[in-house]
Amino acid sequence: AAAPRVLSGIQPTADSFHLGNYLGALRQWVSLQDTHEAFYCVVDLHAITVEHDPEVLRRRSKVAAAQLLAMGVDPERATVFVQSQVPEHAELAWVLGCLTGFGEAGRMTQFKDKSAKQGQSNTTVGLFTYPILQAADILLYSPEPGDGERVLRVPVGEDQRQHLELTRTLANRFNHRFGDTFVPPEAFIPEGAAKITDLQEPTAKMSKSASSPQGIIDVLEEPGPMRKKIMRAVTDTGTEVVYDEENKAGVTNLLRIFSALEGTPIPDLEKRYADSGYGQFKKDIAQAVLDTFTPIRERTRELLADEAELDRLLALGAERAGKVAARTMDTVRERVGF
Ligand code: ADP
Ligand code: NA
Repeated sequence: AAAPRVLSGIQPTADSFHLGNYLGALRQWVSLQDTHEAFYCVVDLHAITVEHDPEVLRRRSKVAAAQLLAMGVDPERATVFVQSQVPEHAELAWVLGCLTGFGEAGRMTQFKDKSAKQGQSNTTVGLFTYPILQAADILLYSPEPGDGERVLRVPVGEDQRQHLELTRTLANRFNHRFGDTFVPPEAFIPEGAAKITDLQEPTAKMSKSASSPQGIIDVLEEPGPMRKKIMRAVTDTGTEVVYDEENKAGVTNLLRIFSALEGTPIPDLEKRYADSGYGQFKKDIAQAVLDTFTPIRERTRELLADEAELDRLLALGAERAGKVAARTMDTVRERVGF
């Protein structure tokens, strides 16, 4: 039987991915390509739902792609592409938008949160229809019904569950109205995905939009500042390295980071640092972060130094993705009456 497909996207909205992106999502992209036919997309169409600078966006899309390759996503095995280079994404989004109720879209909690923060006059229709574009991103790579027992799997965190549910609803609605076309995608939480919190506010998520520079570790960050941030991470007035989400959120976050990077179970780390206090513990974590990110940073720099080669790889990815997307759209167009 053919390998299951996996589809995932990430926005090019920062100059670097961060430790949370890496341990919560991107590292899994690398391992999933061994067991799945993988489609990984830099979603630049999503990035313009808020105000942006064109040159910055163009650069960030390339830096994002370079980091994915530097982390070990293999462009020979996985299809790595930039969303705007496959026009079917926008086309299918229009069709799906015409199948989505206004109230149904209005119930998306992420839209409600973001638009409340921005205020109504700064909120675009694009932000409102964002989950519909996301549904199109996914369903374009849906295996055709009858294509064996093939499935399309989509890694999701808690905050994306509602959007994936909408995607499934739209797939079923389309099938019901126009005939079997899409296999509804399956949500899954990839093995080993760790939730990472802010180094300065360890009860809040590490996030590019909400974290202060001291609270977030960038993949492309220089070693000196990176080490300092970990040494200055907020812990507590105690001295014990123990996992306790309620009372020791900072230490707990550091344990999670260390365990994920080193592949050591948390109880073993608690034992190892039982008598050493926070200083040595943090020093060793900083080293583990550096050991992981230094080669990624160097490789990213190399990839960006040869822009023609990077463009070639992305064009190749867009061509491969485009073939699958075009096949899906041919069916959609025919069924819809175009
Ligand atoms: P941010 O929250 O910084 O805006 P995104 O929302 O763009 O990041 O998330 C991109 C991917 O990284 C998603 O799969 C998301 O679940 C994951 N991710 C983001 N922040 C974290 C975190 N702190 N811990 C674990 N995973 C995270
Ligand atoms: Na986010």
